[in-house]
Amino acid sequence: LPHLLGIEGLSPETISGLLDLSETYIDQNRSVDKRRDRLAGRTIINLFFENSTRTRTSFEVAAKRLGADVINMDVATSSVRKGETLLDTAMTLNAMRPDAIVVRHHESGAVNLLSQKVNCAVINAGDGQHEHPTQALLDALTIRRRRGSLEGLLVAICGDIMHSRVARSNIHLLQIMGARVRVVGPPTLMPTDVDKMGVEVHYSMKTGLKDVDIVMMLRLQTERMQGSFVPSISEYFHFFGLDRVKLQYAKPDALIMHPGPMNRGVEIDSEVADDLDRSVIHEQVEMGVTVRMACLDALIGGNRNQIGNGE
Ligand code: CP
Repeated sequence: LPHLLGIEGLSPETISGLLDLSETYIDQNRSVDKRRDRLAGRTIINLFFENSTRTRTSFEVAAKRLGADVINMDVATSSVRKGETLLDTAMTLNAMRPDAIVVRHHESGAVNLLSQKVNCAVINAGDGQHEHPTQALLDALTIRRRRGSLEGLLVAICGDIMHSRVARSNIHLLQIMGARVRVVGPPTLMPTDVDKMGVEVHYSMKTGLKDVDIVMMLRLQTERMQGSFVPSISEYFHFFGLDRVKLQYAKPDALIMHPGPMNRGVEIDSEVADDLDRSVIHEQVEMGVTVRMACLDALIGGNRNQIGNGE
């Protein structure tokens, strides 16, 4: 596995291997002494062309906890603003001999293209509407720790499926690991190829959440809706916002998940988001650090053998 570009095509063994490796970092991150030297001497560059709080910070935290040097490229003050292309920027950074580049870009496929040009490991931190593999892995780890296994679970992914790379990566991962997936949302926010995704499609929360084990909410990605239909916020919340009433359709112990950033009162009500018994949103963030440690370790550390040859 030279790069981590997506979940599609990974084997169940590769995914389980990465989740198992992630588990081994939980105690380290919860201890007073959080730093180890496994990646000492390695250099990791974070190259984010889109905004991020969780992904960029947790990659930096993960790399530093493994002893690596981390450079956060500030795209806003870089020569990208003078017209330098993505590939020229990547080749410039590549010439500095990093061991890994973590890339987020607004174009689907941009990270894959970049990975073909550089000679270091590339991790996709989200490319357009395509994939966000470390998000799906951290979601899987959160679920696995709560439920023991992903196999046989019924998971509802709700909201703006069309524009969501989180939905795509999660659909791939959950199906590879034997879970059943429903997508729930208005027809205007369903991908045109939804019928080919192997998921159940629901246009109402009442039928979509019926008896599910996991409710995954997604933000309306208005930044990707230029020129297309943007729902009215109050109407959207009325029909698709997760609140106490709609949550009753799910299993009584169903977990509430959200990749963040949340828009409270749009796709999720605060009462549900902050439900300490059922919302695992902060646990997802915590697992994000361990998953990113595992991915860095597997790609540029000594744990390549943990994840096989899945790609
Ligand atoms: N979930 C996620 O990717 O969050 P950020 O955009 O803050 O990184």
